[in-house]
Amino acid sequence: MSQKQRYTITAALPYTNGPVHIGHLAGVYIPADIFTRYQKAKGNDAIYICGSDEHGVPITIRAKKEGVTPQQVVDKYNVIIKKSFEDFGIAFDNYSRTSLPLHHQTAADFFKKLYEDGKFIEQTTQQLYDEQEQQFLADRFVTGTCPKCGYEHAYGDQCEKCGSSLSPMELINPVSTISGNKPVVKETKHWYLPLDQYEPWLREWILEGHKQDWKPNVLGQVKSWLDDGLRPRAVTRDLDWGVPVPVEGAEGKVLYVWFDAPIGYISSTKEWSEKTGKDWQPYWKDEDTKLIHFIGKDNIVFHTIIFPAMLKAHGDYILPENVPANEFLNLEGDKISTSRNWAVWLHEYLEEFPGKQDVLRYVLTANAPETKDNDFTWKDFQIRNNSELVGNLGNFINRVMVLTKKYYDSIIPQPETMTKTDEEVLAQIKIYPEKIGKLIERYRFREALSEYMNLARLGNKYLADEEPWKQVKTNPERVKSIMFVANQIAAALAVLSEVFLPFTAQKLKDMLQLPNELTWDDVAQKDILLPAGHQLGEPQLLFEKIDDDTVAKQVQKLLDTKKQNELDNKAVDPQKDEISFDDFMKMDIRTATILEAEKMPKAKKLLVLKVDTGIDQRTIVSGIAEHFKPEDIIGKKVLVLVNLKPRKLRGVESQGMILMTENAEGKLVFVNPDEAVPNGMSIS
Ligand code: 2FM
Ligand code: ZN
Repeated sequence: MSQKQRYTITAALPYTNGPVHIGHLAGVYIPADIFTRYQKAKGNDAIYICGSDEHGVPITIRAKKEGVTPQQVVDKYNVIIKKSFEDFGIAFDNYSRTSLPLHHQTAADFFKKLYEDGKFIEQTTQQLYDEQEQQFLADRFVTGTCPKCGYEHAYGDQCEKCGSSLSPMELINPVSTISGNKPVVKETKHWYLPLDQYEPWLREWILEGHKQDWKPNVLGQVKSWLDDGLRPRAVTRDLDWGVPVPVEGAEGKVLYVWFDAPIGYISSTKEWSEKTGKDWQPYWKDEDTKLIHFIGKDNIVFHTIIFPAMLKAHGDYILPENVPANEFLNLEGDKISTSRNWAVWLHEYLEEFPGKQDVLRYVLTANAPETKDNDFTWKDFQIRNNSELVGNLGNFINRVMVLTKKYYDSIIPQPETMTKTDEEVLAQIKIYPEKIGKLIERYRFREALSEYMNLARLGNKYLADEEPWKQVKTNPERVKSIMFVANQIAAALAVLSEVFLPFTAQKLKDMLQLPNELTWDDVAQKDILLPAGHQLGEPQLLFEKIDDDTVAKQVQKLLDTKKQNELDNKAVDPQKDEISFDDFMKMDIRTATILEAEKMPKAKKLLVLKVDTGIDQRTIVSGIAEHFKPEDIIGKKVLVLVNLKPRKLRGVESQGMILMTENAEGKLVFVNPDEAVPNGMSIS
């Protein structure tokens, strides 16, 4: 019997300034959940640790915007986030909060140890300061132009365009995000972790020690950071929201959020220990423990360089064994964005698809952004549900349950003889736990899930080949063997589903009346999972089809969001240079009516119009052919600049210009005078 392996599995602590969406689930929480469920199913000693990341500038900014305290912001979202995770079966062993006293104490002690051991550099430097708000402008309190790529909306800590890590002083043309003012420069003291000193060690530990087992996307980022050269990094901030810096002379300063947040993994483990009575220390201090951080790609540097350097500097803790980071999930071709409301929010999904958590878990795993950014579309969601969950897994289970009920009153029959095919299928079942397990161990969850579905496929093929519904009339003895074997496949599917689809697993257990003690390894080792004579429960439908209307409704919801965003963001041209009243009076604008309209031959954009200006009837060539059909604009009342110098377009002289503007979707529209105004009236 192999020894139990201890695992400390962490998932990035979500910022508590908004609800969680499908990108969070797909990138971090589902893969970590599958990994932990698998380790537990294997009998390993694994804990899954997470919590709310409740400090940091974005939370303060949100609080200021909403006129509430940061504590109120995090109290609100912590409840929403925690509930979403519970609702989706994300089985944390502990979900904590970084605003708790236990965390403040743990983070402060960590800092103090490094401080007392002389691991920091103390430095007084020039920092940006908002005089109106009387506040230093750390991190996201300041935006400006990225010195690396020229992006004009880079934050003080990071450029989201090129991914560079920045400090506020590096920004070109900085602006305070609180007041919109140009900041001044003022001196302040901070503590820095000299990351440069850890560079040789990091290089060896990661690039030598882990180059085989860490994901290429993670190694790639690490290498580029190291090749760029590490610099000392400030771990304190002049803010009033966060963990107070626990040393003298640091009044008004708190720990940098990225210093305190990963320590949140430790304090959450301590909280778990308080709740369960188990010792937390082996999970963080025993060299045999495997510490695994599941994160999104934007968190790589913090978990591979900064936090490990902190752990190394501290000296009492183990280092991560692996940092499996995923890429990003997009939504219908666009980057998921909280501020643009471009997301599928978990709490909303659940309201609209009650009881369908596993459908989303399935789709997000099958399409997880493991090696590259991926796209979630509602069409794909529908197809995967209808053809894979309903058509494959649900269909097989349903056939097994219904046929066993029909032929044998839901009691698994005693087979008389087994054919070679039966034996082969039973042998095949045993291969799956290891096949799937190996993929999970290598963080290849998509493939693992696909192998799981292959087992259902095997079941469907077996039934389709053996046709018990036909043989029942001609060879009833044979059907006993078929249904016996089919029930073994169903039982294996039930046990293995626990790691991917926990709600389905529960339904399957109930339906099959599966003994609780059946384990992952039993599927590989036991010849028979459910014996003849075993009484099954009632058949129930595992999945149901999702129709086109349901999908269309979700797509429409996104289109509405897009429209709303366009309206909100419609860029207004800057005001033009000043003109005199006389300049204005030079323009002769008249009310007019379009009398005729036809397409200019061989010109995609041009219409030739005959217009009654009240002065005369004249020809105007207008570039509106892509926006209007000629027949639709005849009779329209319009405004015309009549004294514009005539010019020839494609050989036709245009004698004036029709005034147009754009609507929110960018479509040209006429500037219409009131219908009652006669032609030829001047505009002034
Ligand atoms: O990116 C984020 O959402 C961060 N709040 C993740 C923190 S992970 C950890 F270090 F706490
Ligand atoms: Zn940049």
